[in-house]
Amino acid sequence: MVGKKTIRDISLKGKRILLRADYNVPIRDGRVVDDYRIRQSLPTIEYILGQKPAALIIISHLGRPEGKPNAELSLLPVVKRLSQLRGSPVGFAMDCVGKQAKAAGRVTLLENLRFHEGEEKNDSGFAKAIIEAAGAEVFVQDGFGVVHRAHASTDAITKLLPSVAGLLLEKEVEIIQKTMDSPNRPFVAVVGGAKIRDKIEVLGKFIEVADALVVGGALANNFLAAEGLKIGKSYHEEELMHETENILHQARAQEKKRDFNFLVPVDAVVSRSMAGRLPTRLVDLTSNTLADIEAYPKQPAAGAHTVAADELILDIGPISAALIAGAVKMAKTVIFGGTLGMTETKGIAGAEDPFAHGTRTVVEAMIGATNGHKNKPYTIVGGGDTVAYVESENLIEDFNHVSTGGSASLDLMAGKKLPGIEALQDK
Ligand code: 3PG
Repeated sequence: MVGKKTIRDISLKGKRILLRADYNVPIRDGRVVDDYRIRQSLPTIEYILGQKPAALIIISHLGRPEGKPNAELSLLPVVKRLSQLRGSPVGFAMDCVGKQAKAAGRVTLLENLRFHEGEEKNDSGFAKAIIEAAGAEVFVQDGFGVVHRAHASTDAITKLLPSVAGLLLEKEVEIIQKTMDSPNRPFVAVVGGAKIRDKIEVLGKFIEVADALVVGGALANNFLAAEGLKIGKSYHEEELMHETENILHQARAQEKKRDFNFLVPVDAVVSRSMAGRLPTRLVDLTSNTLADIEAYPKQPAAGAHTVAADELILDIGPISAALIAGAVKMAKTVIFGGTLGMTETKGIAGAEDPFAHGTRTVVEAMIGATNGHKNKPYTIVGGGDTVAYVESENLIEDFNHVSTGGSASLDLMAGKKLPGIEALQDK
């Protein structure tokens, strides 16, 4: 990993190792419903155990309990799943500090760090208490999903113990940084999702380094509004219109400067409800040709070309999907950071999810599922909701790298320094 020590660079033999993982995973009815992050942590665990340490103590957060114990956010379901995946039991301690934090066997997971206020406050007293309870001699940071936070278990603790990266952190950083620094070109970034707030910086970065930037999902509504189009009741972030206009301006300026394209949806699927039970309509947002053809030989009804005041944009339309899929098929590298429509809405009785067609068309182009598509690009998926979508469609294996990081992967792509990485020992 660029410039930072990893577990390969130090001796772990006979030592008590404290491993920070990110086991912030969805849990329903006391069971882990998505174990991707847990599975991704296994190579580091097995590597450490292979080095014959005296003990391995794992710490993590789960959810946002705001410094108080909360039975619903216990890591107990995680330790069950971790034991199943390892095929051997992992011990569990009911607290991460104090008497209850006693290691229970060779491998132990300690209870949720965020049950204590000191974690999010980056309190070094709390970090010291974890180290004392674990008897830790070496700290390994492998919770890639949380290294964008300066918390006790990502920052303060590194001032008290020799601190190195685990294999997952190393892999994530190497892949994302290498792709951002020297991608195989053409390089296309597909950015969707709900909130433009989370993606302003990464959009700016893609305008600098990508050959094409595509926006979709609710965040594209900000761009449509910035271009003067009516978006009805569509979700958008009004308070960020100024930032949106800036990005639009940068992107258009870049298109004049070099071979770069910024693609904003040209058509959209709209409805009066996002529940998927009311009729949907296709609106041609730009040239009106589609609406004209649909109505031919009659005149299209007034308002056919615009999103009505009571309508919401819920997906990109087929023309946008085809345009984006075309760009993706020409690419050698694709970063997928955000779905292009409301993929959470389920269809009625087996019907296809009504607002997931755009995303599906573009994803098929990314993974080479379309007939005759030989040029499968190198693909990276980043950002929490996007990963959840890819998992729910059982497509993890079809992408080259599915990041375990949500905001952490976006921040890394944007070129930001991440506190939990900066804090590790230099090589
Ligand atoms: C995540 O899921 O993005 C990480 O675990 C960080 O969680 P947080 O946003 O609650 O800090």
